[in-house]
Amino acid sequence: MKNLPAIIIGSDHAAYPLKERIKQELARLGHPVEDVGPGSSASCDYPEYGRAVARRVASGEFARGILMCGTGIGMSMVANRFPGVRAALCTEPLSAALSRRHNDANVLVMGGRMIGETMALEILNVWLRTAFEGDRHQRRIAMFDRVPPEAG
Ligand code: RB5
Repeated sequence: MKNLPAIIIGSDHAAYPLKERIKQELARLGHPVEDVGPGSSASCDYPEYGRAVARRVASGEFARGILMCGTGIGMSMVANRFPGVRAALCTEPLSAALSRRHNDANVLVMGGRMIGETMALEILNVWLRTAFEGDRHQRRIAMFDRVPPEAG
């Protein structure tokens, strides 16, 4: 039996169709999934769903999250306000791989209006299977939360 991490996922209306496709793929791979919404393509506010995912990754309840909006930009901005969340907006597989290897990204963000389904699935699969390299990258990540912005 596979023991794959549970993934918390959310979108806004603009990326609702892509979210549904990503959920199918996660199910195919065997990941348990929790969807915070929305449940349709009706217009909604992305910060609400971004917050719902980021809060539960920040708390440690979920090790990995996925967020999608039209561009991926708004969701990235929201998610990265939460200490401990490292959200990476990825538009192609190399960025997805490096966001894991170097940044230990724990939230994958994609833009449903920016990339096609095939690209999104490739990004997802690369992001899920790529490990963090640690070492000097661990030291750098530790600096994110230790250095207050006013320290210059
Ligand atoms: C919604 O129109 C759009 O603004 C949203 O999906 C996202 O792209 C925001 O960053």
